[in-house]
Amino acid sequence: MLQLETAGYKTLDNLRSRGEFPPKWQTIDEVERLTNRFLERFRTERIEVSKDLGPGFLIPELIDRAIRTEESENMDNETIAGAERLEWVRALDRMNHLTLSYDHQCDLLMPVIEKLARQGKPVSILELASGSGGLSFALATKAQQRGLDIRITASDIVPEMVDEGNLIAEQRRLPVRFRQLNAFDFAGLEHGSTDLVVISQSMHHFSPGQLALMIAQAKMHGASAFAGIDGYRSLLLCGGVPLVAALQGMAAFTQDGLTSARKFYSGIELDIIATIATLRQQHRVECSWPLTLLMVTLKELVLPHGS
Ligand SMILES: C[S@@+](CC[C@H](N)C(=O)[O-])C[C@H]1O[C@@H](n2cnc3c(N)ncnc32)[C@H](O)[C@@H]1O
Repeated sequence: MLQLETAGYKTLDNLRSRGEFPPKWQTIDEVERLTNRFLERFRTERIEVSKDLGPGFLIPELIDRAIRTEESENMDNETIAGAERLEWVRALDRMNHLTLSYDHQCDLLMPVIEKLARQGKPVSILELASGSGGLSFALATKAQQRGLDIRITASDIVPEMVDEGNLIAEQRRLPVRFRQLNAFDFAGLEHGSTDLVVISQSMHHFSPGQLALMIAQAKMHGASAFAGIDGYRSLLLCGGVPLVAALQGMAAFTQDGLTSARKFYSGIELDIIATIATLRQQHRVECSWPLTLLMVTLKELVLPHGS
């Protein structure tokens, strides 16, 4: 119900026909501001389109507006100690194991990793906003089982998560190393050091502009692909996510579950963000319930003959 595709694509067609979409940027400094401004414009115009389409379209639009929030999750509250925020990331990790979400996410990512591996060199993966790295560990384990040579750099802005991740990587002897990194600032990264940039269950923690900045920087950095996985924007998950989160018995974590579900991006919003970031249409957005996958091709691969 909260995908609002008919009104959304009609709005986008209107904006495109007026030459407003995609807004063109010249330097990376413009990406964040232009994307945020365009998303605002898109949402404002969509309500007018929904009114024209009739009550069947206007009512979902109004519900979407009522649900949407700009609130931050407790997990991102810098006034709370990193150690406490780490507890909530651990709770998310348990929840992901419980719901078999890591298996699901690995299934979504393995095809692109296998394709990258056909280039005949180790595949370098950068995970952004990784928490303590549950997905990176799951990917490293799956890759080992399949005989794929992958190196993962997992990253987060909270030092406690980075330290915990490095400790687990050492204990489990997996090819994952952690570093502290702001997800939308690639300044400290070596150019060409990453084939695939991944962000999981975190896209809604960032503004549209920050997300576009990540994709644009991944491209400038020489990555071949960008993969974003997050919850599917829907009414059902606005109830379901906090309900499953409540099983962890932590009020702040349950509240984060609700906040997150209210902020999940719709497919069309991710489509818009990727289009502005790359100024082309080399991406797909798909629902793999209860997840959304955004897969952006940043560079065509040159594969050896016969692969
Ligand atoms: C919902 S958690 C997801 C963690 C992990 N990806 C997972 O699926 O378990 C969001 C993560 O984003 C991190 N985060 C928030 N703002 C960030 C930023 N600017 N740069 C890097 N990480 C950030 C938080 O510290 C937190 O670990």
